[in-house]
Amino acid sequence: MPEKPSPPTEILGEGEWPNSVSGSLTTTEPVIDIRDVRKVYSTGVVEVEALRGVSLRVEAGEYVAIMGPSGSGKSTLMHILGCLDLLTTGSYRLAGEDVGALSEMDLAAIRNRRIGFVFQQFNLLPALAAWRNVELPLCYSGVRRAERKARAVELLDRVGLGDRIEHRPNELSGGQQSRVALARALVNRPSMVLADEPTGALDSTATADVLSVFEELNRDGNTIVLITHEEEVAAHARRVVRLRDGLIESDSGAAR
Ligand SMILES: Nc1ncnc2c1ncn2[C@@H]1O[C@H](COP(=O)(O)OP(=O)(O)OP(=O)(O)O)[C@@H](O)[C@H]1O
Ligand SMILES: [Mg+2]
Repeated sequence: MPEKPSPPTEILGEGEWPNSVSGSLTTTEPVIDIRDVRKVYSTGVVEVEALRGVSLRVEAGEYVAIMGPSGSGKSTLMHILGCLDLLTTGSYRLAGEDVGALSEMDLAAIRNRRIGFVFQQFNLLPALAAWRNVELPLCYSGVRRAERKARAVELLDRVGLGDRIEHRPNELSGGQQSRVALARALVNRPSMVLADEPTGALDSTATADVLSVFEELNRDGNTIVLITHEEEVAAHARRVVRLRDGLIESDSGAAR
């Protein structure tokens, strides 16, 4: 029987991975492998086919930008890739694991530990200091308090906010808030970062700051999928996938 490879410890926390979803980054399996994915939203009488047969493979360590007009299915795709929503038909293998066959508990574990989400509205809790926002995902993983704080501060430092750890979101600029959201997305050392318009609300300086963090993450081997409508932002990615009307219109392909 082939031995199960152990994930690299600099990216994954020790013993943090549920058995059923172990061994991603050192296998040759693509991180993302979706085939002919369709997503139909049914809202009473109307049915919307948001994705109409999308196939996409993303290998570990890729940096992909997803572009496309409003309503083309970008966020729908991100929700499916992030196991936040289920596809209607088609298949999704995440690091070799058939997502359709996983239990709700496994999916929750994947969402919490393997995927770092950055949402457009950042979703920070206003009453909590920056470091408390960042440590939040660790509270669900049973990490001890001292370690949670140490990791949160380390991440805030990494995104250039080491001197803002006690600030609440409303005491931070938009760009700083987005970097707190990014730090929170990274605190569980995910193998993949999914970001939906992370620079959508930012000016060019803040955008550059956020993009430099993504670039550094990618250099460290992290897989990044970033949704954006800005060509300048997409230019930082190594691959650009364009959606239109729920279909992939073009794909610049994996840069090898
Ligand atoms: N929860 C939902 N229920 C019903 N229809 C939905 C739902 N979410 C999205 N849709 C529809 O699915 C289509 C794709 O939406 P999606 O949010 O994926 O687009 P998008 O590419 O992210 O657009 P934007 O750039 O405006 O964020 C749209 O026509 C939208 O109206
Ligand atoms: Mg969207």
